[in-house]
Amino acid sequence: MLIQTEIKVFSSRTDLPVKEGDLLDVAHEAAKHAYAPYSRFKVGAAVLLENGHIISGNNQENAVYPLGTCAERVALFYASAQFPETPVAKIAITAIGHESEITRPVPPCGSCRQALLEYEVKFGEPIEVVMAGERGEVYIAKSVADLLPLSFSNDFLSV
Ligand code: THU
Repeated sequence: MLIQTEIKVFSSRTDLPVKEGDLLDVAHEAAKHAYAPYSRFKVGAAVLLENGHIISGNNQENAVYPLGTCAERVALFYASAQFPETPVAKIAITAIGHESEITRPVPPCGSCRQALLEYEVKFGEPIEVVMAGERGEVYIAKSVADLLPLSFSNDFLSV
């Protein structure tokens, strides 16, 4: 068995399709307002829902470090709270560095991949994941499942 992940690589933000480029701009704006006084790694995420709404989020840290929450989950959970029956079409993720510019795509952490997968499974529709730094290449995965092979999901629980 061979498990392969397909990632589309764009050489820069300007090569992206308009929708993805616009979503990334919203994520970048959100990153500016991240509350990240401890890591100083400001992440922004923008979720595009199938009804056209765009919901953004950024990382929210805490003096009790493990309480902090990633940008992706802030955006995703808010989207699900406001529009529980609306499928998620895309999410764009980017970050702003503290001491130097981020020149490679920022991928979602493992926990966020699992959180994203939940909504992909819930709605039975792939969620496209757009990953970018402040400049440089941009990656697009067609689905969260591509970023999380051999994943655990609710079908294991119905035994
Ligand atoms: N972070 C995110 O917001 N998303 C990710 O996918 C990676 C990490 C945040 C968590 C923490 O506030 C900071 O970046 C450093 O790990």
